[in-house]
Amino acid sequence: MSDKLILPEHIGIIMDGNGRWAKKRGLPRNAGHKKGAEVFENISRYCRDLGIKWLTVYAFSTENWKRPKDEVDGIMNLMKGYLKNMASARNEHIAVRFIGDRTPFDAELTELMEKAENADVGEVITTVQIALNYGGRDEIVHSVREIAKKVAEGEISPESINEDTISKNLYSGTPECDLIVRPSGEERLSNFLLWESAYSEFVFMDVLWPDFTKEDLDKALLEYSKRNRRFGGV
Ligand code: IPE
Ligand code: IPE
Ligand code: MG
Repeated sequence: MSDKLILPEHIGIIMDGNGRWAKKRGLPRNAGHKKGAEVFENISRYCRDLGIKWLTVYAFSTENWKRPKDEVDGIMNLMKGYLKNMASARNEHIAVRFIGDRTPFDAELTELMEKAENADVGEVITTVQIALNYGGRDEIVHSVREIAKKVAEGEISPESINEDTISKNLYSGTPECDLIVRPSGEERLSNFLLWESAYSEFVFMDVLWPDFTKEDLDKALLEYSKRNRRFGGV
């Protein structure tokens, strides 16, 4: 990638199309999730190599519990496997944090998540936020609850609540997402980063996530670089 490009500080990716990728090959859906998880690791490293500050990936939505139990279990086991591997990984300069509601997860997964978040990764270049049991609406509800607690305790007054208060009480460590990429051909947000996407640029791509390559990310970044972001100005 040429360094004349204007790179986003924060990229969000809706990692979609795993099921269709598997179906095309006559494989079980979980084979698509497995390949998708490998692509996620490669793309995280590529973002690090490009010096992208934040990468938020949609791994499991608050709506995905509707799927068959064996698929949900398969996704959670893949996540555990990834986190176990990570614990033994070298200095990758990639910090991991999770956004979403952790309450339904078992103790093993919760501990692995915390371990990953506290791991020493050396100097942080990229922070990867994994959206797991994440919903944009749930995140706003979470923020409102946190604020309500502070009001009830007399810590803040209702009049002092502004956009910044909502932003600071979200799960996410960053209130703005510059670019949202969705592979798989679907052109919707599916409850991803509702608050953070107020001024995001969107790039929808036909490739399925397990087939997504660095070159596909380059294409999305090139497209982003050509956009004229006005934020309501002229
Ligand atoms: C995205 O791929 C992964 C998750 C939602 C967990 P899908 O599983 O939604 O793949 P498609 O959309 O059925 O192809
Ligand atoms: C969004 O994809 C969630 C993730 C990629 C984790 P879905 O496949 O669940 O979204 P819909 O159902 O097509 O809107
Ligand atoms: Mg899907």
